[in-house]
Amino acid sequence: ARKIIIDTDPGQDDALAILLALASPELEVVGITAVAGNVPLALTEKNARKICELAGKPETKVYAGASRPLMRKLVTAEHVHGRTGLDGPDLPEPEMPLQPQHAVDFIVETILREEAGSITLCPIGPLTNIALALIRAPEIAPRIREIVLMGGGFFEGGNITPAAEFNIYVDPEAAKVVFASGIPIVVMPLDVTHRALTKADRIDCFRAMGTRAGDACVALLEFFERFDEEKYGSDGGPLHDPNVIAYLLKPELYSGRYCNVEIETQSELTLGMTVIDWWGVTDRPKNALVMRDVDHDGFFELLAERIGRL
Ligand code: BDR
Ligand code: CA
Repeated sequence: ARKIIIDTDPGQDDALAILLALASPELEVVGITAVAGNVPLALTEKNARKICELAGKPETKVYAGASRPLMRKLVTAEHVHGRTGLDGPDLPEPEMPLQPQHAVDFIVETILREEAGSITLCPIGPLTNIALALIRAPEIAPRIREIVLMGGGFFEGGNITPAAEFNIYVDPEAAKVVFASGIPIVVMPLDVTHRALTKADRIDCFRAMGTRAGDACVALLEFFERFDEEKYGSDGGPLHDPNVIAYLLKPELYSGRYCNVEIETQSELTLGMTVIDWWGVTDRPKNALVMRDVDHDGFFELLAERIGRL
């Protein structure tokens, strides 16, 4: 199985990403590292544990990482995810422990211990923990197989400001460190995730499972989609983060191209913007495979088939 570390700020869509990974035998989740983002760290690490228990995998190792971005004040998104970050289902307080080790130490140690080129990082929140690991131990960079992340947007614009997507906006300096690292990066931007909409019949697939995980997904998705439906008038809400895991399972669902990606960290107006050289108008080095489209029916089929196993 492919070894992955999920770095996350759950988040309803993070929750589905974690469930998808834990339900998939092709992947070995060596650890889940929590970061402050959608809600503060004390909630994201707890939410991550709730989801592992929901998946029936309380043995999963969950670590807490950074409680704030590298250089800025934390911006959260309770307006999207609710006060707990995981509003919707009524999940019990987790009984499984939080690991005592700091998430950044866990990331560094694991990458140095495991065979070079074997660990894939899956960041689905602000990039603070990943940047801290790279700053702390730059020698991990060439040992990382790939980073597959949810963040940014180009033709779609932003979702927290007109220019910026939330994960990049919250910690743009961290994103800059990651995109300058030389590690192979795959980006799932809003251009992809805004095509993966949780329409009513897709939510019905989870209802039809008749399982605890299926029912929890219905409650998570129904809470999550209301924000985008009201705000953007879309039929359903965009299911961002599970695209990262789906790409590892079925890369053929996605299409995109290699480009240069730089992160804006100076301008007040466009802070956190992912400046993507899609048309190759500069000679800046290509540093990321940026996805632009997804087979959204295939994506939801995969998600339902896997979560139906839990
Ligand atoms: C990203 O921001 C968070 O609110 C979601 O969980 C996702 O990771 C989308 O912009
Ligand atoms: Ca997230």
